Amino acid sequence: MEIRPIRDGDEAAITDLWRRCELVRPWNDPASDIAFARAAPQSEIFIGERQGKIIASVMCGHDGHRGWVYYVAVSPDERGDQLGRAIMEKAEEWLHDLGVPKLELLIRNTNVQVAQFYESLGYKTEPVVVMSRWLKTPPADPNG
Ligand SMILES: CC(C)(COP(=O)(O)OP(=O)(O)OC[C@H]1O[C@@H](n2cnc3c(N)ncnc32)[C@H](O)[C@@H]1OP(=O)(O)O)[C@@H](O)C(=O)NCCC(=O)NCCS
Repeated sequence: MEIRPIRDGDEAAITDLWRRCELVRPWNDPASDIAFARAAPQSEIFIGERQGKIIASVMCGHDGHRGWVYYVAVSPDERGDQLGRAIMEKAEEWLHDLGVPKLELLIRNTNVQVAQFYESLGYKTEPVVVMSRWLKTPPADPNG
């Protein structure tokens, strides 16, 4: 698998990957998320490509303090081959080179089993509560 930054023309295939990986929620518009990340200098979307097909992704960035990853995905038919590890290592390398000291990520409580994947990569669960508030009119799902 070759890993490279997103480029023009990738959006439809990435969105399809995210949908097949069940990462798209009603309150998150993939096109807006991709455009916002691409417009920000402190964020990047890396994709994993094999034979011209996008099979993995990670959106990474930092807020001036911590690094974050979103949309960590490997195509369902390509899992179990260390590709998730590879795309995460790319995000870690990119953030490390920007001077980011620590990487954090969120797991939905409907997807807690994925913690084992991150634990294999050396991540641990933190004793924190995540809170949020919309700064614009909330999209369709108010629970988002
Ligand atoms: C999570 C995901 C990216 C893993 O991709 P993958 O390519 O299958 O993972 P890898 O093959 O790189 O696995 C790396 C390690 O994690 C472990 N692992 C991966 N998925 C696992 C799972 N579901 N349960 C337990 N361990 C898992 C592997 O056994 C491997 O361990 P090892 O290196 O000690 O042998 C993929 O399953 C996926 O896209 N899931 C749906 C989207 C998702 O939930 N993303 C995360 C949102 S927070």
